[in-house]
Amino acid sequence: MAADPTPNPHATAEEVQAAYADPKLANVLYHDWEAGTYDEKWSISYDERCIDYATGRFHAAAGSADRPYEKVMELGSGTGFFLLNLMQGGIGQKGYVTDLSPGMVEVALRNARNLGLDVAGRVADAERIPYDDESFDLVVGHAVLHHIPDLPTAFREVRRVLKPGGRFVFAGEPTRVGDRYARKLGHATWWLTTNLTKLAPLRDWRRPQEELDESSRAAALEAVVDLHTFDPGELETLARDSGMVDVRAVTEEFAAALFGWPVRTFEAAVPREKLGFGWAMFAYRTWQRLSWLDERVLSKVLPREVFYNVLISGRKPA
Ligand SMILES: C[S@@+](CC[C@H](N)C(=O)[O-])C[C@H]1O[C@@H](n2cnc3c(N)ncnc32)[C@H](O)[C@@H]1O
Repeated sequence: MAADPTPNPHATAEEVQAAYADPKLANVLYHDWEAGTYDEKWSISYDERCIDYATGRFHAAAGSADRPYEKVMELGSGTGFFLLNLMQGGIGQKGYVTDLSPGMVEVALRNARNLGLDVAGRVADAERIPYDDESFDLVVGHAVLHHIPDLPTAFREVRRVLKPGGRFVFAGEPTRVGDRYARKLGHATWWLTTNLTKLAPLRDWRRPQEELDESSRAAALEAVVDLHTFDPGELETLARDSGMVDVRAVTEEFAAALFGWPVRTFEAAVPREKLGFGWAMFAYRTWQRLSWLDERVLSKVLPREVFYNVLISGRKPA
């Protein structure tokens, strides 16, 4: 862990210290801090590109039955990437964003207002969802399960707030194997880029030291908030044990992840202005082609455990 951790420049020294012993407090500090720049950092948009991505993940997990869902709630919504794009794609009608981080809920509600979507929001812990039993037709989440300390309790809560026959869809979770190679590739790329850019001919490509230090501190805190990785079969068992039925986990992104993680790390290690529109298009198009290869070819020949992302869906019994 890095010395002098400052997950949030506005947090007190005591809060920062406490965050390292309490993953939920760490989540709030870290994601409150990230909320204002989160969409930019992750290239999140609310246009065709992200609508296609979000609805694509939804259909990969759940198929195309039942839509549109009337009342849809998201756990750990962040800035609203998944739910708002699903609503724009016609999957949900009335939306409810929830997140442990007040900063994220505020940004998600602002994004929803700007898009003219019917969305309410609450600060909420996935382990104690502040809604009545049988409130929703659909509960979704993206990249949230791996942050929740007590997953059996969270799944029981999802089951409680779903109407009978209601569906849940969680996407964007790291598999156990995928997380291992993604981290190794990320560390190697960071080490190589930050050392090569110390050389005189590449100095222009070096980010100021204080920015690199801040990124390292953020990465250290990420290690505190990232609590789980998943074996797809074990994730299915977890959902079934909470009383869900028709449970199915699917995985995706192998070649795309082997390409994407070094690229994202490289982009974070060099000054933003060095990489123009041409680079962004190259990275995006290559990632798209490799995703196609993963879906059409590699998913037919490789075991599901080696892919980077796991998605899971199922239902509360009718
Ligand atoms: C990696 S971000 C993903 C945000 C968004 N779903 C997306 O895909 O862009 C994880 C989010 O989960 C939230 N979170 C973490 N632990 C949580 C918990 N126990 N209950 C609810 N939200 C939580 C964090 O505050 C953060 O906004």
